[in-house]
Amino acid sequence: MDIAILGGTGKEGAGLAARWAAAGHAIIIGSRDAARARAKAEELRALTGRTPITGDSNAEAARRGAVVVLALPAAGLAQTLPELADRCRGKVVVSTVVPLTFGGGRLYTPPTAGSSAEEAQALLPGATVVAAFHHVAAQELSATAHAIECDLLVCGGDAAAKETVAELGRAMGLRAIDAGGLGNAGPIEGITALLATINRRYKRKNAGIRITGL
Ligand SMILES: NC(=O)c1ccc[n+]([C@@H]2O[C@H](COP(=O)([O-])OP(=O)(O)OC[C@H]3O[C@@H](n4cnc5c(N)ncnc54)[C@H](OP(=O)(O)O)[C@@H]3O)[C@@H](O)[C@H]2O)c1
Repeated sequence: MDIAILGGTGKEGAGLAARWAAAGHAIIIGSRDAARARAKAEELRALTGRTPITGDSNAEAARRGAVVVLALPAAGLAQTLPELADRCRGKVVVSTVVPLTFGGGRLYTPPTAGSSAEEAQALLPGATVVAAFHHVAAQELSATAHAIECDLLVCGGDAAAKETVAELGRAMGLRAIDAGGLGNAGPIEGITALLATINRRYKRKNAGIRITGL
């Protein structure tokens, strides 16, 4: 599958790219700067030995991807998504975005929409947004020689879209768990703020979660 990763020059997007490329998917790294995306794609090709990793502007990446992944800061959504709405129409859009504000105040700062995923859905009305991968740390994703030690919580309003995303999780060895509608994206994004705090306390970078009792 052709997977566009907007903001794929960052740690989370690059980690997802490495895992999906290893599973045989074709990756288009997106950036505000196409040259930066091409450079990151070249770096990832060298790192993974996988050729179908290319770089492009966010707009071109969104056009080329069958699935579009949002891996950029929450503060960039309102700026980035409106002009991509047509290119995302009819597609599954995966939000990994966590509304965090660094600098000493409150870390978890959800938008008025309730969650970044719901904000993205409002900005991309023709797309089907699914929230997932928030709590899969970039550190875990990029350590491609190792299995990832956590579950994948997936939420969204469309069962087929959720199954597409669950399959992308299984492609990197994750157990996918259906976590209900997009209204549950807020709690899932909030868990990541908690994991970030735990990472800081325990001097780690890869705290994750597993659901028991299933
Ligand atoms: N890092 C993690 O372990 C982790 C774990 C779970 C979830 N997440 C979430 O995944 C997303 C990406 O995380 P990250 O650590 O990779 O973030 P990041 O490095 O801060 O940002 C990723 C990319 O987004 C682009 N970007 C930065 N500011 C932007 C803006 N104002 N508007 C549009 N694009 C902008 C940049 O790419 P260009 O300059 O090339 O455009 C940057 O390389 C975040 O929402 C984060 O909360 C991260």
